[in-house]
Amino acid sequence: MKALRLADSNASPRLIETTVPAPQPGPGQVLVRISATAITPTELDWYPTTHTSSGQPRTGAIPCHEFSGTVAALGEGTHDFTLDQAVFGMNDWFAAGALAEYCLTEASSIAPAPLTLTPIQAATIPISALTAWQGLFEHGHLHPGDRVLIHGGAGAVGIFAVQIAHLHGAHVIATASAHNFDLVRRLGADEVIDYHTTRFEDAISQPVDIVFDTVGGDALLRSFPLLKPGRFAVTISSDKESSQDPRIQHAFFIVKPHQRQLMEIAALIDTSKLVTFVDAAVPFSQAAEIYSNSSSHRSGHGKVVVTIAPAS
Ligand SMILES: NC(=O)c1ccc[n+]([C@@H]2O[C@H](COP(=O)([O-])OP(=O)(O)OC[C@H]3O[C@@H](n4cnc5c(N)ncnc54)[C@H](OP(=O)(O)O)[C@@H]3O)[C@@H](O)[C@H]2O)c1
Repeated sequence: MKALRLADSNASPRLIETTVPAPQPGPGQVLVRISATAITPTELDWYPTTHTSSGQPRTGAIPCHEFSGTVAALGEGTHDFTLDQAVFGMNDWFAAGALAEYCLTEASSIAPAPLTLTPIQAATIPISALTAWQGLFEHGHLHPGDRVLIHGGAGAVGIFAVQIAHLHGAHVIATASAHNFDLVRRLGADEVIDYHTTRFEDAISQPVDIVFDTVGGDALLRSFPLLKPGRFAVTISSDKESSQDPRIQHAFFIVKPHQRQLMEIAALIDTSKLVTFVDAAVPFSQAAEIYSNSSSHRSGHGKVVVTIAPAS
């Protein structure tokens, strides 16, 4: 199968096209014929891209761990899926990713694709929506009526965090650029703060129950004084991963695949309670370029998706 893998040097482009054997599913695994996959630009520098799960240096990683596609082969014991079924999901960060014609995943990491979305739209969902879901419910312990501060409400993760918190009955305060105010309000934010012109701590008069930091920098540190005692701050920003501050260590998490959550998210999509956005869709031949020049492709909302032509 054709795939893009990380080159051995940091020269641009950092990804090179290669041909590798298509993997075969073992027990509990599904081989997915990839229709589309979405790009997380920072992923090339993440720990699991450059290290194996046992901590050894990793070379030649295939990035992109969220995808939509169809079932190409089933391993033993994968009774929940059928051949050619449309699925979406994400696989383990240490496994070979989906910037390839085929991708191997645990069956428990995927779910039937939303019925109302195209494969390109479906590929934008798994990482961003699961990150928002896990950040709010598992790490933030969200309850109806909570006041939730979301840093980066117009980003790919923020878009889902705003919607899910709103759907769950929270009072949502989001930071964003002014040109994104209409969007973020439409998705359910009750208050929006322009982080370019206003220090958010000056605009928030009441304490909050949850801080959800998607932007990094000093946003989280500046948010701690706003948090009600005993409530939760969460951050997904990788610049926090190695922090020595115990509050930040406690707040940081990395999204995990989760079948039941994907099914709940798909149901919300199919009943029009959640929406997703495609920033751009590019062919496989342009994927490497996106990583080396990602900002020029981020004019809209949501993620940049790579369409993969399946092998015949
Ligand atoms: N740990 C994990 O499991 C995990 C999972 C997914 C993503 N991530 C990481 O999380 C980060 C966000 O991901 P994403 O996909 O949502 O990125 P994204 O789509 O690029 O969105 C980033 C958003 O941040 C906003 N922003 C930038 N500086 C800001 C500031 N000072 N205050 C408030 N908002 C600010 C921008 O908003 P405006 O456009 O309104 O200016 C932009 O929309 C990335 O670093 C990504 O790698 C981590």
